[in-house]
Amino acid sequence: MLKGKNIVLGVSGGIAAYKACELTSRLKKLNANVDVIMTKSAAEFVTPLTFQSLSLNQVVTDMFDKPKYWEIEHISLAKKADIVVIAPATANVIGKLANGIADDMLTTTVMASKAIKLIAPAMNTNMYENPVVQKNIETLKQLGYVFVEPGEGRLACGDIGKGKLAEPEVIELAIKELLLPVRDLEGKTVLVTAGPTVEHLDPVRFITNHSTGKMGFAVAERAARRGAKVVLIAGPTNLTAPQGVERVDVQSALEMKEAVMLHMKEADIIIKSAAVADYRPAEISSEKIKKSEEELTIKLEKNPDILFELGKVKGDRVLIGFAMETQNLIENAKAKVQKKNLDFIVANDLRTEGAGFAGDTNVVKIIDRQGSIEEVPLMKKSELADIVLDRALSVCNR
Ligand code: CTP
Repeated sequence: MLKGKNIVLGVSGGIAAYKACELTSRLKKLNANVDVIMTKSAAEFVTPLTFQSLSLNQVVTDMFDKPKYWEIEHISLAKKADIVVIAPATANVIGKLANGIADDMLTTTVMASKAIKLIAPAMNTNMYENPVVQKNIETLKQLGYVFVEPGEGRLACGDIGKGKLAEPEVIELAIKELLLPVRDLEGKTVLVTAGPTVEHLDPVRFITNHSTGKMGFAVAERAARRGAKVVLIAGPTNLTAPQGVERVDVQSALEMKEAVMLHMKEADIIIKSAAVADYRPAEISSEKIKKSEEELTIKLEKNPDILFELGKVKGDRVLIGFAMETQNLIENAKAKVQKKNLDFIVANDLRTEGAGFAGDTNVVKIIDRQGSIEEVPLMKKSELADIVLDRALSVCNR
């Protein structure tokens, strides 16, 4: 499968280095050429000979090793790589790369390479959550580095939390996806809405909801990776727009409606995962509302239902809604499909474990026009995004 592909695998110093052995062996089974670069501390955990035996290539550890083929090794590996993978990546390596420090064979090779870069971090939970590490990860993401999230569980140091190196098969899958990308949405334009809307009351206060935008951003990311032109209309969130996506930032439901109606014309698929406020304050006070009476009544007026408006003019575009319910999930979701003229709706129950706003997972039911229900088990939002896009594409091709 990966015949002719050159993978440079960087192994940095952590107990998870042993898992990189399995990764090397998996990649060799797919016929990839694997060149391993180890940091000095990685070589304290696993010997270079282990990687040499698994990869059937010389393992590089030292920048000043005598070149084997009379080439400057970090440059030749950097040029030859189709992808540079760092697994495990310590906080130290991530920090160096994010700040332009190249002081060993691994960091010099990564910095000299124009290949795709995939980083699989592994470290203690507190280190992983340290704002400096998170900032470095964010910097690298913005530069186009792709990350495989660490898993949660019992770590080698005894702590329980996030920081375990992703399993070798998960890293292998990410490598395959990057080297052999599926471009089945090429030529399609996907419009995605994400996040909450905020409805201002006065210069300091607003009404909003708990939406984080994670689901919509995951859909936008997957659609772009699969070759679509993606327009992402987002309410306020802390998330970074995925690479290659055109982002339009909005605040209120009215602003979202305007942006959606402008961009819907060019769209083949519209996915409305935003949590739009149904009501907004009837008046926005230009001055801060001062405290006076014991009670304060705020008059709200109805926002337009953007999805309903889209349903009226959808033509042969694929139109997909999201619904979060706390009761009568199926009944309510089925009614929304009909009322808003949707091709299907992705519905979840806020009270189901693993579903909901802030997490990285979701558990949903997909209900179509005919009323058929697909139960989708607990999975990552990125995986669910692919399922939603698969279904959208099959409606497109019908
Ligand atoms: N939606 C929208 N505009 C609104 C409200 C909702 O476009 N003013 C869209 C959402 O983006 C979502 C779908 O409609 O894709 C369902 O949203 P939801 O809040 O579940 O439905 P409502 O129709 O608002 O019904 P209710 O809040 O009464 O459950």
